[in-house]
Amino acid sequence: MTVAAEFAATVLFEGENGKNMHACDVGCDHAKLSIYLVQSGICKRVLACDINDGPVEKAKKAVGTRKYMDKSLSEYIEVIKNDGLKNLDNMHFDRVFILGMGGELISDIISGAPESIKRSKNTGFVLQAMTSEYELRKYLSKNGYEIVNEKLVEDKSRVYSVMLCRYDGKIRKFKEYEYHLGKANVQNREPLFEAYLARKTRIFGKLFSQLVKANKDAEYEKNLLSDFGKIKNGKI
Ligand SMILES: C[S@@+](CC[C@H](N)C(=O)[O-])C[C@H]1O[C@@H](n2cnc3c(N)ncnc32)[C@H](O)[C@@H]1O
Repeated sequence: MTVAAEFAATVLFEGENGKNMHACDVGCDHAKLSIYLVQSGICKRVLACDINDGPVEKAKKAVGTRKYMDKSLSEYIEVIKNDGLKNLDNMHFDRVFILGMGGELISDIISGAPESIKRSKNTGFVLQAMTSEYELRKYLSKNGYEIVNEKLVEDKSRVYSVMLCRYDGKIRKFKEYEYHLGKANVQNREPLFEAYLARKTRIFGKLFSQLVKANKDAEYEKNLLSDFGKIKNGKI
């Protein structure tokens, strides 16, 4: 299981006790997260889904050969082949985990979910994008999801942001640097934030140089890099 997934399993909203939840692990792959959720007592039931046959088979095998409280894990975890959250109408989850995919795919999965899931105010969405975090934050803010908090985790020398979100129907607008870095990350200033900011600064620094060299408009990148610099120096 990735460091991000292990961390994601344990994040809580204020007031939650983090026990006996019902979760959906979307894109479960080997079902390591689902297994961890049950074996650590966080979830009493998990629906583990994946769109591809290979992961579904791996997940079924992993679940079928392990136990929790003297019972097969298959009593707690159901593994199904499914495209995202589609066709799961009338199901309620305390948690939906969508981890380890691109931000655009995560947005598409939420957008394709039945209303009963995507507009549920009682469901916490725990999301972690490998790429396109900007697009994911933009999607969430435009579609009524509050990013309640973000936490940074390091996996194989790269820092990722785990987002804890909830639907409340309010449309939000943020500053461009907040879509790139996460408003909560800028506020929280966790120790990993320095490396997270440095990576984004490198990416946009390179892009800026390429655009300038090609005589193309680089105003957006220039302003963004200026804001990144202010954040680094504690002026934002
Ligand atoms: C890189 S793995 C991440 C696995 C796990 N969530 C983690 O974070 O370690 C991505 C998984 O998502 C699955 N996947 C991709 N698109 C999907 C979709 N639309 N619905 C369900 N699963 C999907 C892939 O088959 C793959 O197993």
